[in-house]
Amino acid sequence: MRAIYITTPIYYPNSDPHIGTAYTTCIADFLSRYYKMKNYDVFFLTGNDENSVKVEEAARKANKETKEYVDQMAILFKDIWNKLHIEYDKFIRTTDEEHVRTATYVFQKLFEEGYIYKSFYEGWYCKNCETFWPKSKVGEDKKCPNVECQRELEWLKEDNYFFKLSAFQDRLIEFYENNPDVIFPKSRYNEVLSFIKMGLQDISVSRKNVEWGIKVPFDKEYTIYVWIDALTNYITGIGYPDNFKAHYWENVHHIMGKDIIRFHAVIWPSILMALKLPLPKKIIAHGWLITAGKEKISKSKGGDIFNLKDFVFNNPPHLIMALRYYLLREGSFGEDIPVSLERFTQIYNSELANNFGNLVSRVLAIIQKNLDGQVYKQTDISSLANIIDSFTSKYYNYVENYEFSKALEMVVEIANILNKKIEENKPWEINDREKLNNLMFELIFGIVNIAKLLYPALPYTSKKILEQIGLSSFDTNIEKVEIKYREALFPTIKNIVKT
Ligand code: MSP
Repeated sequence: MRAIYITTPIYYPNSDPHIGTAYTTCIADFLSRYYKMKNYDVFFLTGNDENSVKVEEAARKANKETKEYVDQMAILFKDIWNKLHIEYDKFIRTTDEEHVRTATYVFQKLFEEGYIYKSFYEGWYCKNCETFWPKSKVGEDKKCPNVECQRELEWLKEDNYFFKLSAFQDRLIEFYENNPDVIFPKSRYNEVLSFIKMGLQDISVSRKNVEWGIKVPFDKEYTIYVWIDALTNYITGIGYPDNFKAHYWENVHHIMGKDIIRFHAVIWPSILMALKLPLPKKIIAHGWLITAGKEKISKSKGGDIFNLKDFVFNNPPHLIMALRYYLLREGSFGEDIPVSLERFTQIYNSELANNFGNLVSRVLAIIQKNLDGQVYKQTDISSLANIIDSFTSKYYNYVENYEFSKALEMVVEIANILNKKIEENKPWEINDREKLNNLMFELIFGIVNIAKLLYPALPYTSKKILEQIGLSSFDTNIEKVEIKYREALFPTIKNIVKT
């Protein structure tokens, strides 16, 4: 059985998850369920990045001990992911004992191998972003160049531990030139490669006199820089070093937003080379969800019109499925995607309610009314099966190229064909029971295929479809189906959804 390891970034719990964080997580869940459906041995990791100064600050603002705060936030994140039907295999927290052990081990090992050394650091530093900014990026106003932050920078002078990133420049260039498909999309690949070719500087990997965080094992005055700690989560998650599940590591797919590609495509592979571990198979960067005014939706600037937390706690599962569908169906993966409630409502009504929902409801109603709730395979259905097969292989190709919207369009196409079949054959006018059975069996066969292909995006809906027709698996080799009950999958919504 082929194995695959899928990861999301670990999120800073300095505020509630929003629609942007949900986007990454839904994509990862889609891929994870897709590969499960294709019988891969999947391991899906997500979690929280807790050892950050901004998390400590958020706890202070909330008048809580940092540990108590991160514990509560971890519960909230898990609750929200559960509501969104995110089926992760492990939720990692960087305060977990096993992670502290791995991060410490990694730091020590890099030091022992000569990749970490102590030196003096002087430069512009943003406390909020925990980022050292090169002079070339810092303007006259000495404000953080990150547009979402723009806080005052401080001139930091301290002895620090450095990682020899510069030593990996040539090896990284060679790796990416020989493996141009590792980074997706191509535009990010080009960006990363030209960044490396411009020359890599060694980076500071510790902070002095910061209390919250993992201590440098051989110098307790220092904590490990949050990004080194955070990136290590990907190997802690599968047991590194003592119980390392290397078969997952061989095929790891890291999914993230474009904002953090350089950490993943430059620093992380360098650390892995230093540890003599294989490099990631895929580094996949999506675009940002943006507001109508084209601003990135973020914790600091807001813009989450869905208000994720309220949305998932106050809406029934079919609307939560609709949100997943909307995120995957809208826009083109890799590009920025404007988010609007109008588009959500439009997609809901046209594709979920009027296409899939209506199809299932019509077919089941006719079988219940005119065939005593049962249909049998009596004729050859290979002509429809072939059409569906060709859409299915296109769907597979699209998914494996991260073209989720186009993949889902293939399912819409299958539903269109089935709906058209109903209109053309007018089953409500067919009196010949055998003829009606054969038509309805074909439609049921089509619906089972749709349920299967919708599963990665709409797991709840997909199971509901199977339940209603009394099946327990997506095996499309069916002989007989008996309708168990009928329930609208997506009742029409009139206006913009309010939570
Ligand atoms: N803790 C680091 C990641 C460490 S991974 C080793 C971090 N955390 S974060 O909470 O800021 O989350 C960043 C991730 O959230 C982005 O990379 C992206 O995946 C997701 N998104 C946050 N806002 C987003 C949008 N507006 N749109 C799409 N994704 C967004 O960085």
